[in-house]
Amino acid sequence: MHPSVGSSTEESASLQPAISLCNDGQEVVLQGLDRRELRFHAVWLRYNCQCSDCVQPHSGQRLLESCHINPDTNIETASINEYGTELHLKWADSQHEGHVKLDFLKKHSYHGHKEPVSRDQANRLPSISYEEVISGDKGLLRWLQHINQDGMCLVKGAPTEMTTLMELVERVAPVQTTIYGKLFGVESTPNPINVAYTSVKLDYHMDLVYYESPPGLQFLHCIRFDDCVIGGENYMLNVSAVAERFRRQHPADFDILTKVPATFQKIHFARSEPVKMKYQRPHINLNHRGEIVNVIWSPQFEGPLNVDYSDVQPYYRAYHKFSQAIKNDKNFIELRLVPGEILSFNNRTILHARKSFELNGGVRKLQGCYLNIDEYKSKLAVLAHLHGDDEEVKHVGNQCWF
Ligand SMILES: [Fe+2]
Ligand SMILES: [Zn+2]
Repeated sequence: MHPSVGSSTEESASLQPAISLCNDGQEVVLQGLDRRELRFHAVWLRYNCQCSDCVQPHSGQRLLESCHINPDTNIETASINEYGTELHLKWADSQHEGHVKLDFLKKHSYHGHKEPVSRDQANRLPSISYEEVISGDKGLLRWLQHINQDGMCLVKGAPTEMTTLMELVERVAPVQTTIYGKLFGVESTPNPINVAYTSVKLDYHMDLVYYESPPGLQFLHCIRFDDCVIGGENYMLNVSAVAERFRRQHPADFDILTKVPATFQKIHFARSEPVKMKYQRPHINLNHRGEIVNVIWSPQFEGPLNVDYSDVQPYYRAYHKFSQAIKNDKNFIELRLVPGEILSFNNRTILHARKSFELNGGVRKLQGCYLNIDEYKSKLAVLAHLHGDDEEVKHVGNQCWF
């Protein structure tokens, strides 16, 4: 045990944490900064040094050369500055002197057990008025917070112009262009390039899962939906929550679906812009704590399974059980859109489905578009920083391990 280098200043000692070094200075222990003891490795602190030699002040970009940092570095001295805001450090081997803010250490502390987060949440479809969303940043924040919390939100009372959706969504970020363009119309058409553009039933799926980064948010704006149209209701289901329940009931099958990759593809040559896209990945992805960070489900866009011979039968057994779990899950939301409503949802956690419909002489016309998940996350985080409680945007189902 290295001798404590303690809280050094007498002036404002009462609220300052006590510092001690242990493991020959390879770890720093802070008592009294948080309710629990916080421990940091000397190498972690070295990488997070906030001095102007280590971080470019304006951009916040790191200037360190990692090949020059000793992973077994240790601290020679540690003290708190006179304002009680920074931990000042000197590393023994490099003799580098720098500092890290105490707030930063509190926020990014990694010591101690963290409970895995379960995504088994309630199913709700919150709503917000179009007026509120377009009234300013606070309304926009409330909308995105609903989507972040529940995976979906219904915007009510929007105009039914063909320009409305794009104007609204681009308050968040530029819409994501895909093989269907920027905006897509969901209406029964002859020779459709997607089964969505017909009147048949659509089973639960996510859109564009054959992309490396499938669209984050999806928006469906109801332009017209005549009362005489029979069917056409939308269904929404949180598949991360289904997977969480599936893990408890069928752990071995769950495990297979985290390891054996499915094939997702869109191969369509006979369209104005021919497409051949393929992507292989498992249906369920876990992080280092075993938390579900992504579920991919889109049977309509699966291609031939291409895995080891011995994995085929176990895969299909697990796949069959999971598809039954999805089909039989009672935690879905059903809704019949009304003209002027915009259904907004996270395409990475929420499955959508549609009942078949009969036009019966009427019209059902929706307009849709997408937002990239990273741009949505960033906008939400920035708005939460400016107008909210600065909460972190996590667990959006985009395979990020946070
Ligand atoms: Fe879809
Ligand atoms: Zn530094």
